[in-house]
Amino acid sequence: MIESEMSMNKIVIHGGRPLTGNVTVSGAKNSIVALMPASILADEPVVLEGIPEISDVYSLINILQIMGAKIYFAKGVLTIDPRGVKSIPIPSGKINSLRASYYFMGALLGKFGKAEVGLPGGCNLGPRPIDLHIKGFEALGASVSDDKGVMYLRIRATNLVASRIFMDMVSVGATINIMLAAVKAKGTTVIENAAREPEIIDVATLLNNMGAKVYGAGTNEIRIEGVSKLHGTRHSIIPDRIEAGTYLAIAAAVGEGVTVENVLYEHLESYISKLEEMGVQMTIREDSITVHSNQNLKKVNVKTYPYPGFATDLQQPITPLLLKSCGQGELIDTIYECRIGHVPELKRMGANIRVKDNRIIMDSTSELVGAEVVASDLRAGASLVIAALIAKGVTTIYNVEFILRGYDRIIEKLTNLGADIALVDTESSCKEKAKIEEGR
Ligand code: EPZ
Repeated sequence: MIESEMSMNKIVIHGGRPLTGNVTVSGAKNSIVALMPASILADEPVVLEGIPEISDVYSLINILQIMGAKIYFAKGVLTIDPRGVKSIPIPSGKINSLRASYYFMGALLGKFGKAEVGLPGGCNLGPRPIDLHIKGFEALGASVSDDKGVMYLRIRATNLVASRIFMDMVSVGATINIMLAAVKAKGTTVIENAAREPEIIDVATLLNNMGAKVYGAGTNEIRIEGVSKLHGTRHSIIPDRIEAGTYLAIAAAVGEGVTVENVLYEHLESYISKLEEMGVQMTIREDSITVHSNQNLKKVNVKTYPYPGFATDLQQPITPLLLKSCGQGELIDTIYECRIGHVPELKRMGANIRVKDNRIIMDSTSELVGAEVVASDLRAGASLVIAALIAKGVTTIYNVEFILRGYDRIIEKLTNLGADIALVDTESSCKEKAKIEEGR
C-alpha cells in the first residue's frame, strides 16, 4: 500500500501497558445497517435507540436523506421519518464503501416494488457475491437486471408473491434482504436454511413491532406472512457481539481486571468457550463479563462457522491473543478464505504467523514489537489495534477509516481503560508541521 493510497488519518499506540476498568459495548453495527433501510418500510416515523456513532451509520443517514427521509440523530437515538422517501437510484459511488447498503434493495422492493441500487462495496474479504439475494428477489416474482458498466442492479416487481426459498448457502445478508422484500408480499414466504445470527432476530423484532408477521427468526426456517401496511415504532438495538468479543480479547491479552458491559453471553457462547479452552479466567454475569489477568494460556485451534459457531468476524481479533499467549495453533475461516489481510501486517510486528492452504498457522509464541502497519479491512484493523496494545514500543496504524466504521468511540473507550492511544489526522499534522517550519 503506497503512501498516497493511504487515508490521512492514523492511530498511534504506545503498547505494553496493562489495562483495567470497565468498557461498555455499543449497539450492533451489523444490526443497525439493516434496521435503517428496514425503517423505510413503515408509513410512519421509526425511532431506534442505542445507536452507535460509527461512520456506517452516518453513511446510511446520508443515503436516507438523499432518498427523502427526515432524520434526527442525537444521544444514540435515531428517528427516521420515511414519509418523504422515494425509490430513487442509489449510485454505487454513494455506497461503495458500505456493503450493507444492499439492504436498500429488499427494503425498496418491499415498499415500492422497485429498486435501483449500485452493486455493494465493503471490506476486502475476497469475492462477496449477492447471487442468493437475487435468487430470493426473483423467487418473490421480481425481475433483476444489471446494466453493464454502471454497476446498477435494477429490480422490478409488478406485485410480490410469497414463495418457498431454499438458501444454497447460509447467508446473513440474503436472509435479511429476503425478509425485507417479503413482509408485504401476498401470502406466506418460507426461507429455508436461513442464517441464525442475533442481528436477524433484531431485524425481525423491528419488523414485527411495525406490524409485520415474521416467525422463526433465529432458527433455520423463517416464515413471513405478508401484510398490507407497516406502522411506526420504537426499537432498542441489541449490543454488538463482535465489539464485545474484541474487548474480551483485549482484556485477555493486556487486561488486569477488565469488565466488558452490555454483552449478552448467549450471543458469544462459542467464542467464550474458546477463551475458556485457552484458560482465560472470567466471571460471567447476565449482561457483563469480567476478565481476570491471565498467565500461561493454552494452544487452541479455531475454525469459523455460521452462528452459533465461532464468528468469522472474531478470527482476526483473537489472533494477537493467540500469538501472545500460547503462540501455537491454527485458524481456518470457512466463511471467507481470503480473510487474511492482517497476517502480513502482524508479521511486520514480529509475529510468527503464516498462511498455508487457507489455514493461518502460528508456530510459536511471538514477541510483538511496534511497527507501521496498514488496516486492510474492519476486523483486520481491530486485530492490529490489539497487537499494538500488546507490542513493546510504538505502532502506527494507517487506513483507520476501516476501524472507525465498526468500533464506536474506540479511542475514548481504550483511553478510559488506560491505553496510550491517539487518532492523528496526518493531514492537519502535516499542515501544523508546515506552519512550524515556515515559522507562521
Ligand atoms: C455479514 O456479511 C456481516 N456484515 C459480516 O460482517 C459477516 O462477516 C458475515 O455476515 C458472516 O457472518 C453485515 O452484517 C453488514 P454472508 P454478509 O452473506 O451478509 C457467501 C464485519 O466485519 N455469499 O453471511 O455479506 C459470502 O461470499 C462484516 O462486520 C454468497 O456466496 O455475509 C460468504 O462466503 C464483515 N452469495 C458467505 O456466503 C450471496 O449472495 C457468508 O456471507 C451472499 C453470500
